[in-house]
Amino acid sequence: MGFMIDFHGHSLLFDPFITGNPKAEHLSPDDLNPSWILATHGHGDHVADVESIATRTEAKLISNYEIVSWFGAKGVKGHPLNHGGKFSFDFGTVKYVNAIHTSSLPDGSYGGNPGGFVIWNEESCFYFAGDTALTKDMELIPMTCPKLDFAILPIGDNFTMGYEDAAIAADMIKCDKIIGCHYDTFGYIEIDHNKAKEAFAAKGKELILMDIGASITL
Ligand code: NI
Ligand code: MN
Repeated sequence: MGFMIDFHGHSLLFDPFITGNPKAEHLSPDDLNPSWILATHGHGDHVADVESIATRTEAKLISNYEIVSWFGAKGVKGHPLNHGGKFSFDFGTVKYVNAIHTSSLPDGSYGGNPGGFVIWNEESCFYFAGDTALTKDMELIPMTCPKLDFAILPIGDNFTMGYEDAAIAADMIKCDKIIGCHYDTFGYIEIDHNKAKEAFAAKGKELILMDIGASITL
């Protein structure tokens, strides 16, 4: 996992997992200079580099109360949210939305319940789902947030929804442009890229599969 999004001049880093990631050995967390770090849940493949990057850059962490508190004890500054709540930051509004998953922290501490983020300002809106199953709660997003320009959804199956369910999720959130994540990193979640893209194309939607370390403009 791990996405860096330049949101209208503010760099937001999501679920940083470079250290120990077999697909990211050519990258270094020391090259990332976010102003904010957002963590969906406490699993190691989502928070591995939070402490080192936050300590070096003084980026602030946005996550649930339990995760912000756990990192706060390590000196990381943050802003806690809980499910259904939103807050206006300097870059826009963040709403912490439901995810169906688990969320223990690397040392076994309770990491609260897992979530995802919907983020918007006057110009654009996107959904970063985090690790989640397909859930009817996703239908609440278009009811309670601005229209999504794109969404980042897990598609690797086994630990999260697979691409078939993610294509249904795209319908539920009323979004036609999806960036896939949480696939191919480990053997359990290797997927057939063409089949995944076809599942979205059959619904008139686009699935974008990015190379590790690559960037796109949306
Ligand atoms: Ni997870
Ligand atoms: Mn994960």
